[in-house]
Amino acid sequence: MNFLVTGGAGFIGSAVCRRLARNPDHRVVNLDKLTYAGNLASLREIDNLSNYRFVRGDICDDSAVLDLLRAEKIDIVMHLAAESHVDRSIDGPAAFIETNIVGTFRLLNAALTYWRELPADARERFRFHHVSTDEVFGDLPFDSGIFTEETPYAPSSPYSASKAASDHLARAWHETYGLPVVLSNCSNNYGPYHFPEKLIPLVILNALDERPLPVYGNGANVRDWLYVEDHARALELVATRGVAGESYNIGGHAERTNLSVVETICDILDAKRPRRGGARYRDLITFVTDRPGHDRRYAIDSSKIERELGWQREVTFETGLARTIDWYLDNGWWWQPIRAERYAGERLGSKGAA
Ligand SMILES: NC(=O)c1ccc[n+]([C@@H]2O[C@H](COP(=O)([O-])OP(=O)(O)OC[C@H]3O[C@@H](n4cnc5c(N)ncnc54)[C@H](O)[C@@H]3O)[C@@H](O)[C@H]2O)c1
Repeated sequence: MNFLVTGGAGFIGSAVCRRLARNPDHRVVNLDKLTYAGNLASLREIDNLSNYRFVRGDICDDSAVLDLLRAEKIDIVMHLAAESHVDRSIDGPAAFIETNIVGTFRLLNAALTYWRELPADARERFRFHHVSTDEVFGDLPFDSGIFTEETPYAPSSPYSASKAASDHLARAWHETYGLPVVLSNCSNNYGPYHFPEKLIPLVILNALDERPLPVYGNGANVRDWLYVEDHARALELVATRGVAGESYNIGGHAERTNLSVVETICDILDAKRPRRGGARYRDLITFVTDRPGHDRRYAIDSSKIERELGWQREVTFETGLARTIDWYLDNGWWWQPIRAERYAGERLGSKGAA
Protein backbone atom coordinates (compact mmCIF):
# COMPACT_ATOMS: atom_id res chain seq x y z
CA MET A 1 0.00 0.00 0.00
CA ASN A 2 1.23 3.51 -0.82
CA PHE A 3 0.20 6.06 1.81
CA LEU A 4 0.18 9.83 1.61
CA VAL A 5 0.14 11.22 5.17
CA THR A 6 -0.55 14.96 5.35
CA GLY A 7 0.76 16.70 8.48
CA GLY A 8 3.17 13.84 9.12
CA ALA A 9 5.65 16.12 10.90
CA GLY A 10 3.08 16.94 13.59
CA PHE A 11 2.35 15.15 16.82
CA ILE A 12 -0.13 12.49 15.65
CA GLY A 13 1.01 12.44 12.01
CA SER A 14 4.57 11.58 13.04
CA ALA A 15 3.27 8.68 15.17
CA VAL A 16 1.32 7.48 12.13
CA CYS A 17 4.40 7.75 9.86
CA ARG A 18 6.62 5.95 12.39
CA ARG A 19 4.04 3.17 12.69
CA LEU A 20 3.35 2.74 8.95
CA ALA A 21 7.01 2.88 7.90
CA ARG A 22 7.91 0.04 10.28
CA ASN A 23 5.90 -2.23 7.96
CA PRO A 24 8.08 -3.01 4.91
CA ASP A 25 4.93 -3.68 2.84
CA HIS A 26 3.95 -0.02 3.12
CA ARG A 27 5.39 3.02 1.36
CA VAL A 28 4.86 6.30 3.20
CA VAL A 29 5.02 9.79 1.73
CA ASN A 30 4.76 12.56 4.32
CA LEU A 31 3.48 15.90 2.98
CA ASP A 32 3.92 18.71 5.49
CA LYS A 33 4.30 22.48 5.28
CA LEU A 34 6.42 22.58 8.46
CA THR A 35 4.51 25.28 10.33
CA TYR A 36 5.53 26.08 13.91
CA ALA A 37 3.99 22.69 14.86
CA GLY A 38 5.87 20.58 12.31
CA ASN A 39 9.14 19.01 13.38
CA LEU A 40 11.26 16.65 11.31
CA ALA A 41 13.14 15.62 14.46
CA SER A 42 10.04 13.58 15.36
CA LEU A 43 10.78 11.38 12.33
CA ARG A 44 14.45 10.73 13.08
CA GLU A 45 13.93 7.00 13.66
CA ILE A 46 12.48 6.45 10.16
CA ASP A 47 13.99 9.15 7.99
CA ASN A 48 16.64 6.89 6.48
CA LEU A 49 14.22 4.05 5.63
CA SER A 50 13.81 3.40 1.92
CA ASN A 51 9.99 3.09 2.21
CA TYR A 52 9.63 6.60 3.72
CA ARG A 53 9.89 9.99 2.00
CA PHE A 54 9.31 13.55 3.23
CA VAL A 55 7.96 16.24 0.90
CA ARG A 56 7.67 19.82 2.08
CA GLY A 57 4.46 21.31 0.71
CA ASP A 58 1.12 22.91 1.39
CA ILE A 59 -2.18 21.01 1.13
CA CYS A 60 -3.69 24.21 -0.30
CA ASP A 61 -1.50 23.74 -3.42
CA ASP A 62 -3.84 21.35 -5.22
CA SER A 63 -1.80 21.00 -8.42
CA ALA A 64 1.32 20.01 -6.44
CA VAL A 65 -0.79 17.55 -4.44
CA LEU A 66 -2.23 16.05 -7.64
CA ASP A 67 1.27 15.65 -9.10
CA LEU A 68 2.36 13.89 -5.91
CA LEU A 69 -0.64 11.53 -5.88
CA ARG A 70 0.12 10.53 -9.47
CA ALA A 71 3.90 10.25 -9.09
CA GLU A 72 3.69 8.17 -5.92
CA LYS A 73 0.70 6.05 -7.07
CA ILE A 74 -1.04 6.68 -3.76
CA ASP A 75 -3.61 4.13 -2.53
CA ILE A 76 -4.55 5.81 0.75
CA VAL A 77 -4.55 9.46 1.80
CA MET A 78 -4.46 9.98 5.57
CA HIS A 79 -5.26 13.65 6.08
CA LEU A 80 -3.95 15.01 9.38
CA ALA A 81 -2.52 18.38 8.33
CA ALA A 82 -4.28 21.10 10.26
CA GLU A 83 -3.97 24.07 12.52
CA SER A 84 -4.74 22.21 15.73
CA HIS A 85 -4.50 24.46 18.78
CA VAL A 86 -7.79 25.84 20.17
CA ASP A 87 -6.11 28.79 21.93
CA ARG A 88 -4.33 29.84 18.74
CA SER A 89 -7.67 29.66 16.89
CA ILE A 90 -9.11 32.18 19.35
CA ASP A 91 -6.20 34.59 18.82
CA GLY A 92 -6.04 34.14 15.02
CA PRO A 93 -8.76 32.12 13.29
CA ALA A 94 -7.72 32.97 9.70
CA ALA A 95 -5.06 30.25 9.41
CA PHE A 96 -7.62 27.70 10.67
CA ILE A 97 -10.09 28.63 7.94
CA GLU A 98 -7.34 28.54 5.32
CA THR A 99 -5.74 25.21 6.20
CA ASN A 100 -8.56 23.26 7.82
CA ILE A 101 -11.39 24.26 5.50
CA VAL A 102 -9.89 25.57 2.24
CA GLY A 103 -6.93 23.16 2.47
CA THR A 104 -9.21 20.15 3.00
CA PHE A 105 -11.38 21.31 0.08
CA ARG A 106 -8.36 21.54 -2.22
CA LEU A 107 -7.03 18.18 -1.07
CA LEU A 108 -10.42 16.54 -1.67
CA ASN A 109 -10.54 18.02 -5.17
CA ALA A 110 -7.03 16.80 -6.01
CA ALA A 111 -7.90 13.35 -4.62
CA LEU A 112 -11.11 13.24 -6.67
CA THR A 113 -9.34 14.12 -9.93
CA TYR A 114 -6.71 11.45 -9.21
CA TRP A 115 -9.26 8.83 -8.13
CA ARG A 116 -11.28 9.26 -11.32
CA GLU A 117 -8.16 8.50 -13.39
CA LEU A 118 -7.45 5.21 -11.60
CA PRO A 119 -8.23 1.77 -13.05
CA ALA A 120 -11.24 0.02 -11.47
CA ASP A 121 -9.31 -2.16 -8.97
CA ALA A 122 -7.24 0.80 -7.72
CA ARG A 123 -10.40 2.95 -7.43
CA GLU A 124 -11.93 0.22 -5.30
CA ARG A 125 -8.87 0.14 -3.01
CA PHE A 126 -8.47 3.91 -2.69
CA ARG A 127 -9.39 5.64 0.58
CA PHE A 128 -9.37 9.28 1.68
CA HIS A 129 -9.19 9.22 5.47
CA HIS A 130 -10.08 12.51 7.12
CA VAL A 131 -8.79 12.69 10.70
CA SER A 132 -10.94 14.82 12.95
CA THR A 133 -11.76 15.58 16.55
CA ASP A 134 -14.50 14.95 19.11
CA GLU A 135 -14.58 18.73 19.64
CA VAL A 136 -16.95 18.98 16.63
CA PHE A 137 -19.68 17.57 18.90
CA GLY A 138 -19.40 20.48 21.33
CA ASP A 139 -20.07 20.61 25.03
CA LEU A 140 -21.36 17.85 27.35
CA PRO A 141 -22.71 18.35 30.87
CA PHE A 142 -20.38 17.20 33.66
CA ASP A 143 -22.59 14.34 34.76
CA SER A 144 -24.14 12.78 31.66
CA GLY A 145 -23.86 12.12 27.93
CA ILE A 146 -21.35 10.59 25.57
CA PHE A 147 -20.49 11.31 21.92
CA THR A 148 -21.50 8.64 19.40
CA GLU A 149 -21.10 8.79 15.63
CA GLU A 150 -24.73 10.03 15.49
CA THR A 151 -24.27 12.97 17.89
CA PRO A 152 -25.19 16.23 16.10
CA TYR A 153 -22.37 18.66 15.48
CA ALA A 154 -22.24 21.73 17.77
CA PRO A 155 -18.69 23.14 17.68
CA SER A 156 -17.79 25.95 20.11
CA SER A 157 -14.38 27.29 19.07
CA PRO A 158 -12.99 28.55 15.75
CA TYR A 159 -10.82 25.39 15.73
CA SER A 160 -13.69 22.95 16.23
CA ALA A 161 -15.92 24.89 13.80
CA SER A 162 -13.20 24.63 11.14
CA LYS A 163 -12.85 20.88 11.76
CA ALA A 164 -16.64 20.44 11.62
CA ALA A 165 -16.67 22.24 8.26
CA SER A 166 -13.93 19.99 6.91
CA ASP A 167 -15.80 16.87 8.12
CA HIS A 168 -18.89 18.03 6.23
CA LEU A 169 -16.84 18.65 3.08
CA ALA A 170 -15.26 15.19 3.29
CA ARG A 171 -18.70 13.56 3.69
CA ALA A 172 -20.10 15.63 0.82
CA TRP A 173 -17.28 14.50 -1.49
CA HIS A 174 -18.36 10.93 -0.72
CA GLU A 175 -22.10 11.49 -1.05
CA THR A 176 -21.93 13.74 -4.11
CA TYR A 177 -18.95 12.46 -6.08
CA GLY A 178 -18.53 8.94 -4.72
CA LEU A 179 -14.97 9.53 -3.42
CA PRO A 180 -14.29 6.68 -0.95
CA VAL A 181 -13.98 8.78 2.21
CA VAL A 182 -13.67 7.49 5.79
CA LEU A 183 -13.66 9.73 8.85
CA SER A 184 -12.53 9.39 12.43
CA ASN A 185 -13.18 11.66 15.41
CA CYS A 186 -10.88 11.19 18.37
CA SER A 187 -10.47 12.54 21.87
CA ASN A 188 -7.44 14.37 23.31
CA ASN A 189 -4.18 12.66 22.45
CA TYR A 190 -1.06 12.62 24.60
CA GLY A 191 2.33 10.92 24.45
CA PRO A 192 5.89 11.42 23.16
CA TYR A 193 6.72 14.21 20.65
CA HIS A 194 3.78 16.39 21.79
CA PHE A 195 4.40 20.09 21.11
CA PRO A 196 5.33 21.73 24.43
CA GLU A 197 2.47 24.24 24.51
CA LYS A 198 -0.17 21.51 24.97
CA LEU A 199 -1.30 20.80 28.54
CA ILE A 200 0.55 17.59 29.42
CA PRO A 201 4.03 18.45 28.03
CA LEU A 202 3.66 22.06 29.21
CA VAL A 203 3.06 20.90 32.77
CA ILE A 204 5.89 18.35 32.70
CA LEU A 205 8.42 20.83 31.34
CA ASN A 206 7.33 23.79 33.46
CA ALA A 207 7.52 21.56 36.54
CA LEU A 208 11.08 20.53 35.69
CA ASP A 209 11.91 24.25 35.32
CA GLU A 210 10.23 25.04 38.70
CA ARG A 211 7.80 27.37 36.90
CA PRO A 212 4.05 27.86 37.53
CA LEU A 213 1.77 25.07 36.31
CA PRO A 214 -1.19 26.91 34.75
CA VAL A 215 -4.67 25.37 35.04
CA TYR A 216 -7.71 26.98 33.42
CA GLY A 217 -10.56 28.18 35.67
CA ASN A 218 -10.99 25.78 38.56
CA GLY A 219 -9.57 22.80 36.62
CA ALA A 220 -12.93 21.00 36.48
CA ASN A 221 -13.11 20.62 32.66
CA VAL A 222 -13.07 16.96 31.65
CA ARG A 223 -11.28 15.42 28.68
CA ASP A 224 -10.94 11.79 27.59
CA TRP A 225 -7.23 11.05 27.10
CA LEU A 226 -6.00 8.76 24.31
CA TYR A 227 -2.38 7.54 24.08
CA VAL A 228 -1.05 8.63 20.69
CA GLU A 229 0.28 5.19 19.70
CA ASP A 230 -3.10 3.60 20.43
CA HIS A 231 -4.58 6.28 18.21
CA ALA A 232 -2.07 5.69 15.37
CA ARG A 233 -3.02 1.99 15.44
CA ALA A 234 -6.71 2.91 15.24
CA LEU A 235 -6.04 5.28 12.33
CA GLU A 236 -4.24 2.58 10.35
CA LEU A 237 -7.27 0.31 10.85
CA VAL A 238 -9.76 2.99 9.78
CA ALA A 239 -7.68 3.88 6.70
CA THR A 240 -7.15 0.29 5.56
CA ARG A 241 -10.34 -1.46 6.72
CA GLY A 242 -12.89 1.29 7.32
CA VAL A 243 -16.04 1.23 5.23
CA ALA A 244 -16.31 4.13 2.75
CA GLY A 245 -18.83 6.71 3.91
CA GLU A 246 -18.53 5.68 7.59
CA SER A 247 -17.07 7.54 10.54
CA TYR A 248 -15.48 6.04 13.65
CA ASN A 249 -15.13 7.55 17.11
CA ILE A 250 -11.86 6.82 18.92
CA GLY A 251 -11.43 7.45 22.65
CA GLY A 252 -9.16 6.39 25.46
CA HIS A 253 -11.68 5.30 28.14
CA ALA A 254 -9.91 7.80 30.38
CA GLU A 255 -12.03 10.77 31.42
CA ARG A 256 -10.09 13.03 33.77
CA THR A 257 -10.48 16.60 34.98
CA ASN A 258 -7.67 18.92 33.93
CA LEU A 259 -6.79 19.40 37.58
CA SER A 260 -6.48 15.68 38.22
CA VAL A 261 -4.23 15.31 35.12
CA VAL A 262 -1.93 18.05 36.44
CA GLU A 263 -1.92 16.62 39.96
CA THR A 264 -1.11 13.14 38.66
CA ILE A 265 1.85 14.52 36.69
CA CYS A 266 3.04 16.29 39.86
CA ASP A 267 2.79 13.10 41.92
CA ILE A 268 4.68 11.02 39.33
CA LEU A 269 7.41 13.68 39.15
CA ASP A 270 7.64 13.82 42.96
CA ALA A 271 8.65 10.14 42.81
CA LYS A 272 10.85 10.29 39.71
CA ARG A 273 12.54 13.68 40.08
CA PRO A 274 11.97 15.03 43.66
CA ARG A 275 12.22 18.79 44.16
CA ARG A 276 14.87 20.18 46.46
CA GLY A 277 14.04 20.75 50.12
CA GLY A 278 11.05 18.36 50.14
CA ALA A 279 8.78 20.75 48.22
CA ARG A 280 6.01 19.19 46.14
CA TYR A 281 5.28 19.91 42.49
CA ARG A 282 1.60 20.48 43.35
CA ASP A 283 2.71 23.71 45.07
CA LEU A 284 3.45 25.13 41.58
CA ILE A 285 -0.17 24.78 40.39
CA THR A 286 -1.60 28.20 39.43
CA PHE A 287 -5.21 28.77 38.35
CA VAL A 288 -5.53 31.16 35.39
CA THR A 289 -8.50 32.91 33.73
CA ASP A 290 -10.60 30.38 31.86
CA ARG A 291 -10.54 30.00 28.07
CA PRO A 292 -13.54 31.72 26.42
CA GLY A 293 -16.13 29.20 25.19
CA HIS A 294 -14.37 26.41 27.11
CA ASP A 295 -16.37 23.19 26.65
CA ARG A 296 -17.01 21.54 30.01
CA ARG A 297 -16.67 17.90 29.12
CA TYR A 298 -15.91 15.58 26.22
CA ALA A 299 -16.62 11.85 26.45
CA ILE A 300 -16.43 9.45 23.56
CA ASP A 301 -18.10 6.13 22.82
CA SER A 302 -15.58 3.97 20.89
CA SER A 303 -17.80 0.88 20.69
CA LYS A 304 -18.24 1.07 16.90
CA ILE A 305 -14.51 0.85 16.07
CA GLU A 306 -14.10 -1.80 18.78
CA ARG A 307 -16.96 -3.91 17.40
CA GLU A 308 -16.44 -3.40 13.67
CA LEU A 309 -12.67 -3.07 13.30
CA GLY A 310 -11.51 -4.94 16.42
CA TRP A 311 -9.59 -1.99 17.89
CA GLN A 312 -9.00 -1.81 21.64
CA ARG A 313 -7.15 0.74 23.72
CA GLU A 314 -3.96 -0.96 24.97
CA VAL A 315 -2.38 1.76 27.12
CA THR A 316 -4.18 2.91 30.28
CA PHE A 317 -3.95 6.58 31.22
CA GLU A 318 -1.70 5.88 34.22
CA THR A 319 0.72 3.75 32.16
CA GLY A 320 0.69 6.19 29.25
CA LEU A 321 1.29 9.19 31.45
CA ALA A 322 4.24 7.56 33.24
CA ARG A 323 5.65 6.54 29.84
CA THR A 324 5.20 10.08 28.52
CA ILE A 325 6.95 11.62 31.53
CA ASP A 326 9.85 9.17 31.15
CA TRP A 327 10.08 10.11 27.48
CA TYR A 328 10.33 13.85 28.24
CA LEU A 329 12.90 13.17 30.98
CA ASP A 330 15.03 11.16 28.51
CA ASN A 331 14.60 13.21 25.33
CA GLY A 332 15.68 16.77 26.01
CA TRP A 333 17.36 16.73 22.57
CA TRP A 334 13.83 16.91 21.08
CA TRP A 335 12.10 19.49 23.27
CA GLN A 336 14.92 21.77 24.42
CA PRO A 337 15.34 23.49 21.01
CA ILE A 338 11.55 24.02 20.79
CA ARG A 339 11.41 25.55 24.28
CA ALA A 340 14.41 27.75 23.47
CA GLU A 341 13.32 28.93 20.03
CA ARG A 342 9.60 28.49 19.50
CA TYR A 343 7.59 28.12 22.67
CA ALA A 344 9.02 28.91 26.09
CA GLY A 345 5.99 27.89 28.19
CA GLU A 346 5.37 31.43 29.33
CA ARG A 347 1.63 31.33 28.83
CA LEU A 348 -1.25 28.91 28.71
CA GLY A 349 -3.97 29.63 26.26
CA SER A 350 -5.19 32.57 24.30
CA LYS A 351 -3.63 35.96 24.83
CA GLY A 352 -7.01 37.20 26.07
CA ALA A 353 -7.31 34.49 28.72
CA ALA A 354 -3.80 34.49 30.13
N1 LIG B 1 -3.80 16.44 19.18
C1 LIG B 1 -5.02 16.02 19.51
O1 LIG B 1 -5.29 15.72 20.69
C2 LIG B 1 -6.08 15.85 18.44
C3 LIG B 1 -7.33 15.39 18.84
C4 LIG B 1 -8.30 15.21 17.87
C5 LIG B 1 -8.03 15.44 16.54
N2 LIG B 1 -6.82 15.91 16.16
C6 LIG B 1 -6.59 16.15 14.73
O2 LIG B 1 -5.50 15.32 14.33
C7 LIG B 1 -4.73 15.97 13.34
C8 LIG B 1 -3.28 16.04 13.79
O3 LIG B 1 -3.22 16.75 15.04
P1 LIG B 1 -1.83 17.05 15.74
O4 LIG B 1 -2.08 17.25 17.16
O5 LIG B 1 -0.83 16.05 15.30
O6 LIG B 1 -1.48 18.46 15.06
P2 LIG B 1 -0.10 19.23 15.03
O7 LIG B 1 -0.43 20.68 15.15
O8 LIG B 1 0.90 18.63 15.96
O9 LIG B 1 0.45 18.94 13.56
C9 LIG B 1 -0.14 19.48 12.41
C10 LIG B 1 0.84 19.30 11.26
O10 LIG B 1 0.21 19.80 10.07
C11 LIG B 1 1.18 20.56 9.34
N3 LIG B 1 0.45 21.55 8.54
C12 LIG B 1 -0.27 22.62 9.00
N4 LIG B 1 -0.77 23.31 7.96
C13 LIG B 1 -0.40 22.64 6.83
C14 LIG B 1 -0.63 22.85 5.45
N5 LIG B 1 -1.35 23.90 5.01
N6 LIG B 1 -0.10 21.97 4.56
C15 LIG B 1 0.64 20.93 4.99
N7 LIG B 1 0.91 20.69 6.30
C16 LIG B 1 0.40 21.54 7.19
C17 LIG B 1 2.05 21.20 10.42
O11 LIG B 1 3.31 21.59 9.92
C18 LIG B 1 2.14 20.06 11.44
O12 LIG B 1 3.24 19.22 11.16
C19 LIG B 1 -5.37 17.34 13.13
O13 LIG B 1 -6.20 17.27 11.99
C20 LIG B 1 -6.18 17.56 14.38
O14 LIG B 1 -7.31 18.38 14.11
C21 LIG B 1 -5.84 16.12 17.09
